[in-house]
Amino acid sequence: MSSTLSQLDGLAHVLSKSFQDNAAEQTHRWDKEWMRYLSAKKDYWFYFYDMSSDNYALGISPNTIAKMSAEEVSTTMFYKDIKGDAWVAGADLVGKDVLEIGCGPGVFGRLSGRLSKSYTGIDISRFALSVARLTSPKTCRYFHLYDPAGLETLAKSVDLAFGRHFFIHHNYEDSLWLLQFLRDLVRDGGLIMADFFCDAKTVDGARRRNADQPLSEQHPSALFHFEDADIERLAAAAGLRCEAIDHRPERSSRFARLRVGGTTSADGASTVTPRQ
Ligand SMILES: C[S@@+](CC[C@H](N)C(=O)[O-])C[C@H]1O[C@@H](n2cnc3c(N)ncnc32)[C@H](O)[C@@H]1O
Repeated sequence: MSSTLSQLDGLAHVLSKSFQDNAAEQTHRWDKEWMRYLSAKKDYWFYFYDMSSDNYALGISPNTIAKMSAEEVSTTMFYKDIKGDAWVAGADLVGKDVLEIGCGPGVFGRLSGRLSKSYTGIDISRFALSVARLTSPKTCRYFHLYDPAGLETLAKSVDLAFGRHFFIHHNYEDSLWLLQFLRDLVRDGGLIMADFFCDAKTVDGARRRNADQPLSEQHPSALFHFEDADIERLAAAAGLRCEAIDHRPERSSRFARLRVGGTTSADGASTVTPRQ
């Protein structure tokens, strides 16, 4: 699979003029997608829930969360009926500087802001970001993907970067620049947790596509099917060490644990973790 990335990669690619020139079009595209999500008649009560004051406590203590596996963080209710829903071990969240790419209106920031040392959210939708800023605790900060001056300050500043319902909507090419970008925001020795979609049976070429297919103009939230080999190749191309891939067919997901810094083997060798 070839890449059309320029010679610049990572943070430099995102800060480049050619990337930043797409700001208006891409922001509009995802602002509109948020309008579509929020009119889908689902229960979105928590998306607007104002937890900016100090009067809120989670239903579970940071000490308990610190002992949780990624699966437990994902399935445990953190606040009322709101699950953690992120594939990240508790020890990688509690007391750490964490960054969510594609943070939307701050659903996870509202939770993480009460247990992480700092929470940084980056999103493409200004609409979603303005809700996030209005409703999140003060330990959270939010950046637009098209704010180069702000993003520049984030270089090598966090212990963990992750996607929550995020990489599922990105194809191979998109995931490559996104992982290279996150690599440059995570300190050496830190982690990236990426949530890829997988369900080969449902690929229809429209809303569900293979990893090497182009993004969909019509469906910004199209899903892209990844195999282990796609993820291993991505990690190697992004200069990351793929430590594990948790394949969860019942969740149509492959969750990848990618290490930043240190030595990366040329073949991007990984441990593939089957469901226990
Ligand atoms: C399915 S939503 C998930 C929102 C949030 N993570 C959550 O779990 O509630 C995907 C989000 O990614 C954002 N997004 C899409 N492409 C992006 C990109 N290249 N960089 C940053 N954010 C992006 C969208 O605006 C949207 O908020």
